[in-house]
Amino acid sequence: MSETVTLTMNGRSLTVAAQTTILDAARQLGIEIPVICYHPHLTANGLCRVCSVEAGGRVQAAACVTACSEGMTVQTDSYAVHRTRRTILEMLAATVNLAEAPHILALLAEYGADAARFPDATRRESPIHDDNPFYRRDYNQCINCWRCVQVCAEDAQYAFALSFDSRGYHTTIGTFMGDGMTDTTCVFCGQCVGVCPTGALKPKRQALLEQGMNPDDIFYQTRLGKKKR
Ligand code: SF4
Ligand code: FES
Repeated sequence: MSETVTLTMNGRSLTVAAQTTILDAARQLGIEIPVICYHPHLTANGLCRVCSVEAGGRVQAAACVTACSEGMTVQTDSYAVHRTRRTILEMLAATVNLAEAPHILALLAEYGADAARFPDATRRESPIHDDNPFYRRDYNQCINCWRCVQVCAEDAQYAFALSFDSRGYHTTIGTFMGDGMTDTTCVFCGQCVGVCPTGALKPKRQALLEQGMNPDDIFYQTRLGKKKR
């Protein structure tokens, strides 16, 4: 098998190492492709599809997981690509609270996405899980990007505390049998919070500050604070 492949992207020819993704090839050319679920340090799953491009005759090839192939022709910014991304963003905004996802809000503006085009969409409704001293889970803001699951599993922590819950449209991120975090294998490393792009996972202190709690009261609610009293 050849170690390189040559393709054409937006009319420009380039040669890349075999198995290079379209996203990485685009970046070599300085072409920007929007991403949401992709994270450079985590395994890409191709879940959100906002990175869709036209490639090899397909309009919805996810650039973050599709490898370049010999002779492939790629269009990253055609009308069809633009329309696909706009619709994906609209469906996302119609079903999930994105108020704390500035990156996605910026994409909505950039693509002229209007969530009102899906007036019958069912908005995600989930209770807020506030079951441990370290972080809060609000799946009303979760876009199922899977980053927290990946970082909790083979990509970093090997704790496997987080997984999916339910199936199909009702799929959410959760714990085994809906257990509270303190009853799981979670070691509270905080890495899931660090990679969450939407505020669905939030440090408890930040959440309390946003609710208007005095920083001193928050401090004395912690074990350290109680010891010093
Ligand atoms: S909780 Fe955050 S990181 Fe996890 S899937 Fe939802 S949006 Fe992604
Ligand atoms: S960024 Fe490629 S599918 Fe989400």
